[in-house]
Amino acid sequence: MMDWTDRHCRVFHRLMTRRARLYTEMLTTGAILHGDRRRLLGFDASEHPVALQLGGSDPRDLAAAAKIGEDVGYDEVNLNVGCPSDRVKDGRFGACLMAEPALVARCIDAMKRAVQIPVTVKCRIGIDDQDPETALDALARGVIAAGADTLIVHARKAWLNGLSPKENRDIPPLDYDRVYRLKATLPGVPVVINGGIAGVAEAKQHLAYVDGAMLGRAAYQEPWRLLRVDPDLFGEAAPHATMKDVLEAMMPYIESELAQGTRLHSITRHFVGAFHGVPGARAFRRHLAENGVRPGAGVDVLRDAIARVEDPVAASIAA
Ligand SMILES: Cc1cc2nc3c(=O)[nH]c(=O)nc-3n(C[C@H](O)[C@H](O)[C@H](O)COP(=O)(O)O)c2cc1C
Repeated sequence: MMDWTDRHCRVFHRLMTRRARLYTEMLTTGAILHGDRRRLLGFDASEHPVALQLGGSDPRDLAAAAKIGEDVGYDEVNLNVGCPSDRVKDGRFGACLMAEPALVARCIDAMKRAVQIPVTVKCRIGIDDQDPETALDALARGVIAAGADTLIVHARKAWLNGLSPKENRDIPPLDYDRVYRLKATLPGVPVVINGGIAGVAEAKQHLAYVDGAMLGRAAYQEPWRLLRVDPDLFGEAAPHATMKDVLEAMMPYIESELAQGTRLHSITRHFVGAFHGVPGARAFRRHLAENGVRPGAGVDVLRDAIARVEDPVAASIAA
């Protein structure tokens, strides 16, 4: 998610689940081919399995960007066919590609030829006045024939004329059944559902119909929910018992980043939802907001903020 799931956020999320697959923000082929690759593509070894999401519609550029992603160690490369922003539309990529399934198939074909890692697609069920019954099938058929390894479907349309990107994540109605029907026609291809899934219990319900569930805003805004992924979906212990333990486990990473010139706030901004609903959460957030942005702010600021969370028992996943 753009501006949210940067590498600091992903390191944080990985401390709550070993098993969930993490995704980068969408990076355009132009940025990867011509920009500062080290800054854009750098990630921490702890993030695996981690997928690189690309935005673009030129098969040759997508193939080149996918290869670069594979070479730096990403575990999957994903093509964005779901982002509705104007900037993206002008560049002829994102959700508007739902109207060009043949082009998307050519993109996937080129990416598949360039890399060994899985190539996946994230799309909507349709755009504007498209009929989702035919539009989603047309896209799915094309990319699967081209070799796509998994389809991730945000289970609502994007309305490209008139809605902001934020509205396009809430206003077009969710249609989970449409994604279930797609899966029923594709027994051999993993289908992952996305959109409006509030937490791990809800994700588990979808797994009766599809192969995977992707959490977006819930994972970011209420990250403690991720502590349930490994126990509830994989029958394994969570990496840490409480959010205090998770933040303690972040300390070495934060110290190493600070030593390289990263500002504390760039990392701690992802912690705003860490103690959502726990007594002291507001004081935690306020302390970080007021002190984390100061030049030279160090881990002591984070420790002081954590100390304001009043009830360590309530911060436990057992609570
Ligand atoms: C701030 C923000 C940035 C996003 N950026 C991306 C992105 O870069 N690529 C993408 O595929 N989806 C992006 N999304 C959409 C989410 O991945 C997801 O499809 C959408 O929010 C619906 O799922 P949710 O209800 O679980 O959040 C973004 C969402 C938000 C809130």
